[in-house]
Amino acid sequence: MLENVKDEIQGVLKKYPDKKSAVMDMLRIAQREASGHLTKEAMDEIAGLLGMPPVEVHAAAAFYTMCRINMPAGKHRVWVCRNLPCSLMGAEHIIKYLEKKLGIKTGETTHDLKFTLDTAECLGSCGTAPMMQVDDDYFENLTESKIDEILAAKGRES
Ligand code: FES
Repeated sequence: MLENVKDEIQGVLKKYPDKKSAVMDMLRIAQREASGHLTKEAMDEIAGLLGMPPVEVHAAAAFYTMCRINMPAGKHRVWVCRNLPCSLMGAEHIIKYLEKKLGIKTGETTHDLKFTLDTAECLGSCGTAPMMQVDDDYFENLTESKIDEILAAKGRES
C-alpha cells in the first residue's frame, strides 16, 4: 500500500541514521494514505521496510493516540486534550459539548463521515487550556461559541 508514496518513504528514511527511528513518520504516512486509519497489512509492511518485528510497529501504533487502528476516521479528526491543566480548565465539559454537538461518543465517527472525536494526552499547549487539535491545527481557550465557529468552518452547522 505504500507503493504510491515510494519517494516520500525514501526521503523519510534518509532523515534517520537508524531506520527504526522512522517508525512514527511511516505510521503517519500509512495512516494518511489509508483515509485516516492503520491496517494490520500496512503496519506489517512498515515492519518489513524498517527491519523491525511487526509486534514493535503494532505496539508503537497502539501507544500513540494519533494512530487509529482498523477503524476508518472521518474527514476531520478532533482531539481534545484531557490532561490535568486542560481538565482543570474544563476539558470534560468541552468533550461533552462536542459529543452532543456531533451526536457521537468519544472514539466514534459521525454518520456523514465528517468528524472523528478523540481525546489526547497533553498536546503541549497547557497555557491556553482548554484546547483541542482539529486535523493539523490547534484551537485554544475553547468555549462553546468557539467550538460552534470551528465546526461550522469545517462544515458542521449549528
Ligand atoms: Fe492540555 Fe497540556 S494539558 S495541552
